[in-house]
Amino acid sequence: MSKLRLDGKVALITGAASGIGEETVRLFIEHGAIVVGADVQDELGQKVIQSLNTDKATYHHCDVRDEKQVEETVNFIVSKYGKIDVLFSNAGIIGPLTGILELDIQGFDNTMATNVRGVAATIKHAGRAMVEKRTRGSIICTTSVASSIGGAGPHAYTVSKHAVLGLVRTACSELGGFGIRVNSVSPFGVATPLSCKAYDLEPDQVEANTSCVSNLKGVVLKTRHVAEAALFFASDESGYISGHNLVIDGGFTVVNHSYSAV
Ligand SMILES: NC(=O)c1ccc[n+]([C@@H]2O[C@H](COP(=O)([O-])OP(=O)(O)OC[C@H]3O[C@@H](n4cnc5c(N)ncnc54)[C@H](O)[C@@H]3O)[C@@H](O)[C@H]2O)c1
Repeated sequence: MSKLRLDGKVALITGAASGIGEETVRLFIEHGAIVVGADVQDELGQKVIQSLNTDKATYHHCDVRDEKQVEETVNFIVSKYGKIDVLFSNAGIIGPLTGILELDIQGFDNTMATNVRGVAATIKHAGRAMVEKRTRGSIICTTSVASSIGGAGPHAYTVSKHAVLGLVRTACSELGGFGIRVNSVSPFGVATPLSCKAYDLEPDQVEANTSCVSNLKGVVLKTRHVAEAALFFASDESGYISGHNLVIDGGFTVVNHSYSAV
């Protein structure tokens, strides 16, 4: 018999209209959570929530680059449900794909505003609500294998994901005093609108590219694998884990693929 791992927990998921965020909304609902999905793609976000056919899921517009919208979203959740137990700060963009010598500085700023400042604003406001309500909450951020190594993503993106890792660690150091855990999930390449649009590829082409350079063979990385990792951090099963960056990469970032001694 399956156990509801998030029974009654209130979760905010950003980037909920698509890809990893959408899949996580579905999985959290399956596990008994109350979910507010936030995004800037309102029509798509509403569609995702409606498809769940439950009153436990709500869509809320929120551009994470705008702190006021983040604060308003958190206030909306607290006034509706009285608390916030889980923040999955997942919204992100890939940013400019140019080389470092042609770096698009405006695109760099927008990538940082979305992927770093946006995550910082969600931690600030969801964290405040958790502290105020004395909720021993769980904060989960989406980084990337590009937070651990260079050359695994575009420049601005790689910088932003390294910064998110720093945010996770520094927020963990302060919020631990309130019983709040802060962790991150770091996926390898997964077929979502982000990766498909950036490289103008079909989902099966993204999956073929990832599988081609992957370390773990015979399994294709799916958004569900990432959602399962977020579920682990959101649930009480990870009750003493904080400051951890969980890579979902089949071992890619710990193996030097150019050299084999065995
Ligand atoms: N797809 C991959 O290969 C991959 C790998 C590693 C990490 N990631 C990370 O996973 C996260 C989710 O990406 P995805 O692959 O599911 O892409 P996606 O494009 O399918 O989903 C990202 C969502 O974030 C939303 N978003 C973008 N800017 C926003 C803003 N300013 N405010 C609110 N929402 C905003 C988008 O509208 C979209 O719905 C991102 O942080 C991304 O960097 C993706």
